Amino acid sequence: MEARTCLAIVLAAGEGRRMRSALPKVLHSIAGRSLLAHVLGAVADAGVTASAVIVGPGEKAVAAEAERILPSAECFVQRERKGTAHAVLCAKAALARGADDILVVYGDTPFVRPATLARLRRSLAAGAAVAVLGFRPSDPAGYGRLIFSGDELVAIREEADASASERAIGLCNGGIMALAGASALAILERIGNHNRKSEFYLTDAVEIARCMKLGAVAVEVEEDEVRGINTKSELAQAEAVAQERLRKAALDAGVTLVAPATVFLSADTKFGKDVVVEPYVVFGENVTVEDGAVIHAFSHLVGAHVGKGASVGPFARLRRGTRLGDGARVGNFVEVKEAVIEAGAKANHLSYIGDAVVGANANVGAGTITCNFDGAAKHRTTIGKDAFIGSNSALVAPVDIGASAYVGSGSVITTDVPAGALALGRGRQVVKEGWASRLRGLKSLGKKKAHSRD
Ligand code: UD1
Ligand code: CA
Repeated sequence: MEARTCLAIVLAAGEGRRMRSALPKVLHSIAGRSLLAHVLGAVADAGVTASAVIVGPGEKAVAAEAERILPSAECFVQRERKGTAHAVLCAKAALARGADDILVVYGDTPFVRPATLARLRRSLAAGAAVAVLGFRPSDPAGYGRLIFSGDELVAIREEADASASERAIGLCNGGIMALAGASALAILERIGNHNRKSEFYLTDAVEIARCMKLGAVAVEVEEDEVRGINTKSELAQAEAVAQERLRKAALDAGVTLVAPATVFLSADTKFGKDVVVEPYVVFGENVTVEDGAVIHAFSHLVGAHVGKGASVGPFARLRRGTRLGDGARVGNFVEVKEAVIEAGAKANHLSYIGDAVVGANANVGAGTITCNFDGAAKHRTTIGKDAFIGSNSALVAPVDIGASAYVGSGSVITTDVPAGALALGRGRQVVKEGWASRLRGLKSLGKKKAHSRD
C-alpha cells in the first residue's frame, strides 16, 4: 500500500451562499483552523503524494490558504460551477500525470479522518475502480442514496432524481470518493449532465464503472465524519463537536480542565503534564503550554509558548510571539506580544509588553508600558536580567535597560539605562510646607466673608 501513489483533489469551488458571508465558505474556521486546513491536514496525513485544490473564480484567498497549509498543493480554478464531476476534471492536468489512487474530498467536510481515506484507498488496492463513503444520516433529505443490487453497489441516485422507493433508502453518499487512477479519467470523461439539475455529477462514476465492467464498493462511516458545513448553524454545531473532542483529548492526556465546557481549544493546542486550566480560557492557534503551568481564569492566548511551571492570568492576554520562560508570571490585565519573558521574570499587574525581552528574574512593576510604536514603526525594548522596573513606568522604545538596573516608579525612560544603574525619569517632587493648610484657610475666610454680608 505504501508504494501506491495518490493524488487528492479537494473541491472548494462552492459559493457557500448559505453562509451569508463575504468570506469564502472553506475559510471559515473550526477550532482555530479553516475548514480547508482541516481537510488538507487529513489529506496530508493519509499519505497522498500530490494534491490539487479546485477553487472558484477570483478566490485568491482560498488559494493562498491552500498554499499556506500545503505548499505542494496545486490550485485549479473552476470558472463555472457545473457540478462535482466537472470540478474534479478542472484538475485534468494533475490527473493526466497519473497516480495509482485518486481521492476526491470536499473542502467543506472538515471531520474526515486520515484512517478513513486510507480505508478507501485499500478498497482500490483490493481491485475496486470506485470506492464511495456511505453513512446513515439521521435525516437523509438532500443526500444521494446508495443503490445496491444484492451486495453490489450499482449506482448513486441524487435526491432530485430519485424515485420514492429510492428515497426510502437510509444509506447515503458521504461525498468523498476514491477512484483507481488507471480508469479515473476514462470514467470522469464519460459523465454527462442529463439530470434534473443539468450538472455533471461525480456520483455517476459508479454506474459508468459498472458499464465498463469495473467494480464499485462502499465503505461505511459515522455521520459525524462526513458532516458538511453549509450554514452558520452547521458551523456552530461542528465547532461544538470539535471542542468536545479536543477537551476530551486534553482531559485524557492528563490536563486539568476545571470547567471543560468553558475552555475553548484549537486543533493544534499542545499541553505538557500537570497543566491546570481554570474556567473561561480561550486558546487560539499555535499555543504550547509546558508541564506544571497554570492558566488562570479568563485568559486569552494565541501564538504563545508557556514554559514549565509558569503562571498566566487571571485576565491575561498572550498574543502571537509570546514566549514565557520556566516559572515566569504574567498576571491580571497584562498583554504580551512578540516578547520573551525569561525564566522567573514577572509582570504581575496591568502592563503592555510588546516587542521586548524581559531578562530572567526581572520584575516589571504594575502599570509598566513598553511604548513600542511611534506611529510609524515598531521598536524593541530589552530589560536585562534581575532588573527592577518601578510601577507605572513608560519605556519608550528603542530602549535597553541593563541587567540589575533599577527604574524608579512613574519614569518615562527614553534613553538606555546601564547595568546596575538607577534611572529616575520623572519630574522632581516639590514639597511646599503649609501650602494646603493655607489654601483651606483662605476658603474658610471666603465663607466667613459671605456670611458677614447677611
Ligand atoms: C453531493 C453529492 C451527494 C452527497 C452529498 C454529501 C454529487 C452530485 N452529489 O451533493 O450524493 O450525498 O454531496 O454531502 O456529487 N463543488 C465544486 N464545484 C461544483 C460543485 C460542487 O467545487 O461545481 C464542491 C462544493 O463546494 C462542495 C462539494 O463540491 O464542497 C459538494 O458539492 P455540493 O453542491 O454541496 O453537493 P451536494 O448537492 O451536497
Ligand atoms: Ca453539500
